[in-house]
Amino acid sequence: MSLHGHIIPPGATLGVLGGGQLGRMFAMAARRLGYRIHIFCPEADSPAAPVADRTFVAPYEDLEQVEAFARSVDVVTFEFENVPSATSEACARVVPVRPEGRVLHITQQRLREKTFLQAHGFPVTPFRAIHSLADLQSATRDLGLPGVLKTASFGYDGKGQRTLRSASEISEAFTGLGGAEGIYEAFVDFAQEVSVVGARTLDGQFAAFPVFENVHANHILDVTVCPARIPAAVETAARDLSRGILETLEVIGLLTVELFVSRDGRLIVNELAPRTHNSGHLTLDACITCQFEQQVRAVCGLPLGSTELKSPAAMANLLGDVWKDGPPRWERALSNPRLKLHLYGKTSARPGRKMGHITATAETPEAAITAVRQARSSL
Ligand SMILES: Nc1ncnc2c1ncn2[C@@H]1O[C@H](COP(=O)(O)OP(=O)(O)O)[C@@H](O)[C@H]1O
Ligand SMILES: [Mg+2]
Repeated sequence: MSLHGHIIPPGATLGVLGGGQLGRMFAMAARRLGYRIHIFCPEADSPAAPVADRTFVAPYEDLEQVEAFARSVDVVTFEFENVPSATSEACARVVPVRPEGRVLHITQQRLREKTFLQAHGFPVTPFRAIHSLADLQSATRDLGLPGVLKTASFGYDGKGQRTLRSASEISEAFTGLGGAEGIYEAFVDFAQEVSVVGARTLDGQFAAFPVFENVHANHILDVTVCPARIPAAVETAARDLSRGILETLEVIGLLTVELFVSRDGRLIVNELAPRTHNSGHLTLDACITCQFEQQVRAVCGLPLGSTELKSPAAMANLLGDVWKDGPPRWERALSNPRLKLHLYGKTSARPGRKMGHITATAETPEAAITAVRQARSSL
């Protein structure tokens, strides 16, 4: 292999499993750098398709199509982690998959993920596996109430989870799992939620973005602000945790760590995502390198870009609910000339569906939050 043999240079074709907004913004960043993009996803009208050079529309289980997709690209990455292992393995027989299927396997199941973190000394809330009503009864006795019962697999945006506050809710909550494997977690009475998007290359270069502070509404991310309003020591500790986790998992690519900050300033890992993250969207407008370009660089073996924040910034999600009284009045939000609008090209605006986001840069984090909240409510 030549000295530069591990670099996948601009002009090459990048493959993405998944066609949602993360894939769309990855494709846009990759194109800017001169790459071609092929998408594989089950839906015909995915947000990423209009900005891709080619889209393979087939179920993830169609391994013949998966192989054809893999043959058409130079590297495969993800924007969605609930891809079956067999799909990433089929790709890996043809081209490098970054991060590897092993990382995907651990992070797509909450029990495996928390067991991995705990085994390597990363802080997590106490948890138990739930396979029966008796498991849930003893878990609530051991870990106490309140606590959060989640399906071990396929959860996102709070789907498949429920907070238990009293023993009277146990049996109904167990029934709600519908036979799926569950996890019961001790409730974390957190002061804040934060996340760290970290990137790592084949030769071990690591870079984390500044810590993002996240506010959820109805279990869905609502607003992210950066810099996070946390002490410098917590900022450093969060970035160190990110580095430790990416290095332990030997991630090549991006991985997001969602964290709770306890009232006494301790960090507890909530979950991992082996990809870009909704909380990282403000990097598009506020950092020297955005998270999508960083993913391109990391999976292609290019040096990582600067993660420096150019200005305090805030991001607010635009859910389908914004459309409930008719088409949003974009001109009102954009009357703030520092406001940036990002829409994902989705045609049906169901309540709770992520349709786009807005970002504002400002003198202070508080001013940026006020700006995005005002802009959103003016729509
Ligand atoms: N153990 C917990 N204690 C307190 N709040 C929690 C706990 N687990 C989840 N939550 C809340 O629910 C949100 C969504 O949970 P999460 O595990 O991140 O699932 P998802 O995959 O849906 O994002 C978290 O961001 C947090 O606000
Ligand atoms: Mg989460």
